Amino acid sequence: MAQRPQRIAILTSGGDAPGMNAAIRAATLIARSAGVDVVGIERGWRGLLEEAFVPLATQNVQGILRDGGTILGSVRCKEFHERDVRDKARAILRDRGVEGLVVIGGNGSLTGAQALADPEEAGDRAPLVVGVPASIDNDLGITGLAIGVDTAMNTIVEACDKIADTATAHDRTFIIEVMGRDCGYLAMTSAIAAGADLALFPEGGRDQASIVDAIIDTVIAVRARPRKSRRVIVVKAEGVQVSVESLKSAVDARLRERVPDADPAVIETRVTVLGHVVRGGRPSAFDRLLGSRLANVAVRALVAGQSHKMAAWMPAVELPEEIGQRSPYDPYIWLVDLGAALVETDNLLRGRSPLARWRAGVFEEIEDALLM
Ligand code: F6P
Repeated sequence: MAQRPQRIAILTSGGDAPGMNAAIRAATLIARSAGVDVVGIERGWRGLLEEAFVPLATQNVQGILRDGGTILGSVRCKEFHERDVRDKARAILRDRGVEGLVVIGGNGSLTGAQALADPEEAGDRAPLVVGVPASIDNDLGITGLAIGVDTAMNTIVEACDKIADTATAHDRTFIIEVMGRDCGYLAMTSAIAAGADLALFPEGGRDQASIVDAIIDTVIAVRARPRKSRRVIVVKAEGVQVSVESLKSAVDARLRERVPDADPAVIETRVTVLGHVVRGGRPSAFDRLLGSRLANVAVRALVAGQSHKMAAWMPAVELPEEIGQRSPYDPYIWLVDLGAALVETDNLLRGRSPLARWRAGVFEEIEDALLM
């Protein structure tokens, strides 16, 4: 095992996620309580290349727990894919006496961390790295949840509840698009939590025609209900490659054919794209706790001289010893091999993992139930 680092740095990278500040705070406090010096790097990998180091003492992280976004700022840095750029980053870390790095972010950020510390590329100049999964998309492998997912889901559900009020008043159909990049997790879970009638997600593999059919069938089924409310809420993941505008016009045209006598103001679909609203806001209590707990486990590993690890929240399956171990500091968190987490992320996004198949399959099983 490598030497215990004397100084570590913390950075946040990629899309920000509510709860990142909780992770920064916990990482700082745990490292300092272990007698390790801590600095922050602003604006992710780009900031590292620009030597944007800032002090991270106890007073710098006071009161940040409740704030959304990230006090360190974040940038997507494509050039970090290049070897000579990473050589420069390693040289900067060495000059600054930074021996360990806590990377808080999603797939791209953790891929950067893995490459930075790759022994084949960096030899004995590799810094120690640990990852803390943070992305509202919940598209990271092995970890059951990433920081920010819970807050984003709550934001979506609150928005759907509000839209449902007006949809109910007018008996209208709404298509609500939510973030999630290529992953349908947020759309699926918030559709259930909001009591939506239909969820559309990329893992479902539906083409435009079958999506339109599914919406029409849902509207017709809801309108046939012998009850007061005939509103329809459809939650669509942004990863479904059909724009809400084209869905609206296709659905409206078909509804005019199917229900020719209906009042156009009632059968006309309305669309709402929630966009970046989903990524902002104060972190939920759960995300504050999750960020703190993941950072606690990650930093304890780092100060003990471990590297190429990611802290993972309650993996869906029991992990083999060589992939990960349950943390002695938190029974709900596993310390997993970072490379294995990235491979599993790829499997998840390509629909090759059992978890991806389960996520998609469960909706086939419950779709009829959603409509009841
Ligand atoms: O990865 C987080 C995320 O918010 C995705 O859900 C979304 O597709 C993307 O980032 C948006 O990126 P940007 O903020 O760069 O537009």
